[in-house]
Amino acid sequence: MAIPYNKRTCDCGALRPSDVGKPVTLAGWVNNYRDHGDNLVFIDLRDRGGITQCRFNVDTDPQATRVARTLRKEDCIVVRGEVISRGENINPKLPTGHIEVSVHEVELLNKSLTPPFEVADHVEAGEDHRLKYRFLDLRRPTMQRTMIVRHRVLQCFRNFFYNEGFLEIETPILTKSTPEGARDYLIPSRVFPGEFYALPQSPQLFKQLLMMSGFDRYMQIARCFRDEDLRADRQPEFTQVDLEMAFVDLEDVLDVTERSLAVVWKETLGVEVPVPFRRMSYDEAMRDYGIDRPDLRFDLKLLDVSDVVRASTFNIFQQALAAGGIVKAIRLPGGAEMTRKETDGLTVEIQGIGAGGLPMTKVVAGQGGAPELQTGIGKFLAPVADELIRATGAEIGDALFFACGKFENVSKHLAWLRSTLAQRRGLIPKDRWEFLWVIDVPMFEYSEEDGRWVSMHHPFTMPREEDLDRLESDPGSVRAKSYDPVVNGVELASGSIRIHDQAIQNRVFRALGISEAEAHAKFEHLLTALQYGAPPHGGLALGLDRIIMLLTGTDNIRDVIAFPKTQRAYCPLTECPSPVDDKQLAELGIDLAASVKAKLAAAQTM
Ligand code: AMO
Repeated sequence: MAIPYNKRTCDCGALRPSDVGKPVTLAGWVNNYRDHGDNLVFIDLRDRGGITQCRFNVDTDPQATRVARTLRKEDCIVVRGEVISRGENINPKLPTGHIEVSVHEVELLNKSLTPPFEVADHVEAGEDHRLKYRFLDLRRPTMQRTMIVRHRVLQCFRNFFYNEGFLEIETPILTKSTPEGARDYLIPSRVFPGEFYALPQSPQLFKQLLMMSGFDRYMQIARCFRDEDLRADRQPEFTQVDLEMAFVDLEDVLDVTERSLAVVWKETLGVEVPVPFRRMSYDEAMRDYGIDRPDLRFDLKLLDVSDVVRASTFNIFQQALAAGGIVKAIRLPGGAEMTRKETDGLTVEIQGIGAGGLPMTKVVAGQGGAPELQTGIGKFLAPVADELIRATGAEIGDALFFACGKFENVSKHLAWLRSTLAQRRGLIPKDRWEFLWVIDVPMFEYSEEDGRWVSMHHPFTMPREEDLDRLESDPGSVRAKSYDPVVNGVELASGSIRIHDQAIQNRVFRALGISEAEAHAKFEHLLTALQYGAPPHGGLALGLDRIIMLLTGTDNIRDVIAFPKTQRAYCPLTECPSPVDDKQLAELGIDLAASVKAKLAAAQTM
């Protein structure tokens, strides 16, 4: 008689010594089998709960053992038997390692082909292969754990925000372009040929409209779509925990956000995150760390030594200073032990991101034991050695690395060097979480490419009241009421208090070079709504995928998404994007360019 697989008594990770003697039914996949040749066969049975060892004894259960001998990895089976103790042979690596199931009956539910790679964490398979067979890849214990963490984090955020009085409201996926700065994914309309929907880059405008509709605390687990160059922490389709609140100021948004993050860290990692988080102005972050999302787990601050090295004889510094640039240094404690090979290697790498080179020197004991600068550019720094050592706090055994030129370039190069040195020299403490808010971010940055000011966050961000009168005269100096939570060098979210006054909104559009006509064409609905008693409001969006990356310790965003796209925004599993029928195109009124048709035809004959 068939074993009723819908009557599993527990999952494969549940059984413990206290269950010994119980009759059980388990179902899952054959993770491993070991045939002892004489009278015993062992099968490790796996499901999402874990792994349980199943034991088949030919003397007591000849029929079950006969079936077991035909089973192979990834076959789907159900077993019925009794929990027994493993006695001495415990497996401390498994939570179920003290017991096994002595199987009396086994049934093959479905046979598996030989898998293209072994379903095990220790097996290295190429990522394209893993993505093509994602349904198997997702069976691996690490992927199962990650998806379970992701579920728990979502549940945690939802519970937290529901308890804080937030309403979950869905906003459209077929919508109009939103101004988050990336390229839109467009969807052609059949009903309005030649016209397009855009997939939302975020629910930004809708959530602001919801504030104007009186839903004063909104949240949504929102899928967002951006056609941008992909990096290790970016996907074309990703998830935000999206919030908006009315009748609030910056403090209220920061408070609720940091408490939500503290709950998530506590529930998933058991880590207590102290709130409130520390705050750092954008200017301070850029000055001390060269980046707007500093990793505070280690020190290695950037030190401005422009005034000190002015009297050195190092030409490159002189030229940079004469051109109005700066010179900054990083002091690496113990760095004098670095080999020439290591520092030469760093030089090549930093040149790869645009630096001219990597001037450096070492602090060593000179005559009489006093610190002295030797190697690298040491001899050129001799006239200012004492002052430089004092200014950087350098000690014997340290190394000093320098960058010079424009503030932006020096920041970029030394920020890279800072994190690279910290990683390679093992300066990053394990299990440490350094949360902070980066605030007072400038409203605008100048885009050389577009020849105009562009928003650092988005055009609906409220400027700080005290900076408002410089909106026209000195846009570069206007700070925004925006805030980014950062942890360990990762930007988790960004948000802002929004403009609820149409006059200010129009001034910001003007500062951005957006004409009235263009603003109305793009954002008519928002501009109209602002005229019907819009309340003060603000919000933020947390990048869920990045949060899961941090919680599971991966630096690859594809590891935390069940069915991700490759770096080229391609899905090897479903093989999309893919061509569509001519009939579908005709319905949409779309005719492909001749060059595209030729390419498709060539691909078909290959
Ligand atoms: P922003 O564009 O900064 O703000 O996005 C918020 C957060 O979303 C995450 N994120 C991404 N994650 C994965 N892949 C991507 N391509 C990607 N792009 C962004 C980041 C980021 O911090 N509407 C505003 C929020 C607001 O003002 O309320 C917005 O979308 O973690």
